[in-house]
Amino acid sequence: MKNLVIASHNEGKVSEIRHLLAPLGFSVISARELDLPEPEETGSSFVENATLKAEQAAMLSGEFSLADDSGLCVEALDGAPGIYSARWAGEKKDFNAATARITEELRHKGLEIEGARAYFICVLALSSPHEKVKIFEGEVHGYLTFPARGKHGFGYDPIFIPDGYEMTFGEMEPSAKHAISHRFIAFQKFVDYLKKNKLNENI
Ligand code: IMP
Repeated sequence: MKNLVIASHNEGKVSEIRHLLAPLGFSVISARELDLPEPEETGSSFVENATLKAEQAAMLSGEFSLADDSGLCVEALDGAPGIYSARWAGEKKDFNAATARITEELRHKGLEIEGARAYFICVLALSSPHEKVKIFEGEVHGYLTFPARGKHGFGYDPIFIPDGYEMTFGEMEPSAKHAISHRFIAFQKFVDYLKKNKLNENI
């Protein structure tokens, strides 16, 4: 496997994935660069959505394809926004609005906003034109803080503090987030799979 299509139109994610894949020497190209359509995420779980994105990109490009479906799950909101994490920000990708919705829903339930337990989850799906999809998952647990802090990262990073830290993901240097994130954990499992199956000559 030399070429890998990243089945995502989210520039924040694509840049993190490129960074994580850099040591593996793949030729990486994103779905946007290939002008592939962005599929509607009709699945009812992270696994279903990652699978449909990876399968569509593999089928249309004829290459191995890796999709990431991820999101923020707030425990007291029964895992919301979860698979709707991107959709809570609306078409304008307004994460101030998404953050406001989290605080409103916690308040509506009469719950404490500051320190609400939450986790990020990342599900990676690897699809090849000829094989069944493989799934790799990672989670990072922590808590929420308001108002948002930090200019790094993307999405909900500025309101999330991972356990054992005092900085939000938005305040951390990107390399510090990359070393502990849900995406990094899922990637480790992906790399182990490549190693075990001798699918990459650089590892
Ligand atoms: P999807 O996987 O494209 O449906 O979108 C995932 C959404 O979850 C992103 O748009 C972000 O809102 C959020 N998300 C996923 N991973 C992260 C992360 O590492 N930091 C911040 N937000 C994230």
